Amino acid sequence: MEDFRRSRRLRSNAAIRSLVRETNLNISDFIYPMFVVPGENIKREIPNLPDQYHYSVDQLKEAVGEVVDLGIQGIILFGLPEEKDEIASGAYAMEGIVQRAVREVKSHYPELMVITDVCLCQYTSHGHCGLVEDGTVLNDESIEKLGATALSHAMAGADMVAPSDMMDGRVAKIREILDKNKFNHIPIMSYSVKYASAFYGPFRSAANCAPKFGDRKTYQMDPGNRMEALRQVEIDIAEGADIIMVKPALVYLDVIREIKDSFSMPLAAYHVSGEYAMIKLAAKHGLLKEEDSMIEALTAIKRAGADMILTYFAKDMAKWIRRNQ
Ligand code: PBG
Repeated sequence: MEDFRRSRRLRSNAAIRSLVRETNLNISDFIYPMFVVPGENIKREIPNLPDQYHYSVDQLKEAVGEVVDLGIQGIILFGLPEEKDEIASGAYAMEGIVQRAVREVKSHYPELMVITDVCLCQYTSHGHCGLVEDGTVLNDESIEKLGATALSHAMAGADMVAPSDMMDGRVAKIREILDKNKFNHIPIMSYSVKYASAFYGPFRSAANCAPKFGDRKTYQMDPGNRMEALRQVEIDIAEGADIIMVKPALVYLDVIREIKDSFSMPLAAYHVSGEYAMIKLAAKHGLLKEEDSMIEALTAIKRAGADMILTYFAKDMAKWIRRNQ
């Protein structure tokens, strides 16, 4: 017996490396975020989010068709309304942008999991995730509107709702309203652990929802907090969440791991716009290899414990997996 261990035996070629690889990415791991805008015939690249598009409802058949053909099982829809107001009317309008988009997508692809982001920030004139009075984001009034929003999404045919607002009690409120209206079969994927992050930057221009005053720190979490994340998850489980989410993903891998180890719940992680844009732009300038960086980043998120990943790379990943399997 030699007096040291030869770990390199298991790294010597691609075949053995793939046999011993502990974390493999599958197409079924990914959920693809998509943005819907008013108007017709629109497929417009989003300036701060390279290779991602704003689509009008009539373009969704083709755009979502491509996603379905790649084998992706789920999308999450974000809407930009025609008009914004103080009470976020567009968020819960039966003919709102997301409601129309859901009906259109489900009519063509009934098998696809259509998730809707439930929040008010795209729909409020001030850009906050809840109603505002005297410069304060109101909690209890806001969750009523969030409940109405989730219900309108379910009525349009959404398969799952995903509240991203970070108001207190919103999961319980949404569960109550859905159950009362015969939607007790619709799961809630809660953005339970959503940090007040700088990495949402590109999304805010994509969804035109940057707050007009102040910031989101009175409702989103402080990046320094780990135990608070565990408390948020406990609260959301008690309120009836079916899937827990951590967001962002790459800069919170420790939190993902800890939640996975502490709770027996399906766990989602959102690889957010800034985390995506960093790779895209660095690759564009020749600083990183895009595909290798994408795979390494998403593998890390899954290795940390995510059961599913929301990512703008979903289509690229699906293509890569198809080419390499
Ligand atoms: C809406 C919402 C945001 C994101 C998802 N839902 C932005 C925010 O809270 O400011 C971010 C997604 C991303 O950055 O990719 N509340």
